[in-house]
Amino acid sequence: MPNVTHLECSLCAQSFAANQIHNLCSCGGALLVRYDLDAVRKTWTRDSLVQAKPDLWRYWPVLPVNRRESVVSLGEGMTPLIETKRLAAAVGAKDLWVKDEGLNPTGSFKARGMSAAISMARELGITKIAVPSAGNAASAAAAYAAAAGIEAHIFMPMDVPQANFIECKALGAHVTLVNGLISDCAKIVTERKDKEGWFDVSTLKEPYRIEGKKTMGYEVAEQFGWKLPNAIFYPTGGGVGLIGMWKAFDEMQTLGWIGSERPKMIVVQATGCQPMVRAFERGDQRAEFWQDASTVAAGLRVPKPLGDKLILDAVRGSGGTAIAVNDEELIDAGIELASLEGMFVAPEGAACIPALRKLLATGFLKPSERIVIYNTGAGLKYLEAYAQRFPRG
Ligand SMILES: Cc1ncc(COP(=O)(O)O)c(C=O)c1O
Ligand SMILES: [Zn+2]
Repeated sequence: MPNVTHLECSLCAQSFAANQIHNLCSCGGALLVRYDLDAVRKTWTRDSLVQAKPDLWRYWPVLPVNRRESVVSLGEGMTPLIETKRLAAAVGAKDLWVKDEGLNPTGSFKARGMSAAISMARELGITKIAVPSAGNAASAAAAYAAAAGIEAHIFMPMDVPQANFIECKALGAHVTLVNGLISDCAKIVTERKDKEGWFDVSTLKEPYRIEGKKTMGYEVAEQFGWKLPNAIFYPTGGGVGLIGMWKAFDEMQTLGWIGSERPKMIVVQATGCQPMVRAFERGDQRAEFWQDASTVAAGLRVPKPLGDKLILDAVRGSGGTAIAVNDEELIDAGIELASLEGMFVAPEGAACIPALRKLLATGFLKPSERIVIYNTGAGLKYLEAYAQRFPRG
């Protein structure tokens, strides 16, 4: 039963009614879902999770859907948290883990957000959705929309990885390839959505994707026996996963499940598109548009994240930092991780490894600290990016 009390603007704190269709606040802020956590706390214990289903819907009391039959699920969440001892030895760490989100449906963590968003869309009677995407959000949107019988309209950059394009087509979505970046795709959706009757499920313009992604925060706590790690490396494009985990930690503290300690939240970007690193280093509250964004890590090519302030608040509030690595470093790291640990990961996730090396070298992190890298996607989605290293013949 619904524990949602209302939605709240993340910038001006204006309140919005639950169970209605919403996009952004009129001030431009993203809406955050608020729950009656004091009531939840009385009836839901962390011990009861022992018997819960091994997917993200195990956190039902802090998810926004009202009716079980609205849920569109393909087995998302409860991904493995793997100790990577050989990688740890190679980088000079002692307690290093990878949360492998590449094992989600459609091969990325975007499945979490879309499972929540499409479930809510179904509950609210939405029949057509549209999404601008760097690739993986599109694949997830197409899959969950197909399973829900909802029409999906997808806008991706022309050079999106082939896997995402083929996947979306096979999943029955209406796909448009755009000569530009995700920001250009977003403009098209904004211009056409009212006339076409599309509900816009763009990153943070829709309030429920973040609720699905926040479960990465619940899971890491649960998998470590309710003790959070010292540092979390998160490959940041729109930053939704990081914002979601930060929200989850506060919720868990209110539930009495964890204390006030937080991991250092570390934003990892590519040198060819690092608006959050620049804003962090300048001490700014908001990020400026990154001109001529370019990187093989397609998910990191977000020139101006809508949730820039929320990302910076989490990084600063946690004593974390923001750091960029170049394309060569991140592809090298993907191959290193694969050969050391048997995990073939997305370039976005691989980017965390050179970032970790740099932060160990500067002393920002100590080798004894417990560190978790979020690998947000599967390497198999990025064959073009890796193929340049392995010419045939
Ligand atoms: C594999 C991968 N990693 C990371 C990201 C960035 O995600 P977020 O918007 O949560 O920062 C994306 C987004 O497209 C992605 O596809
Ligand atoms: Zn507002």
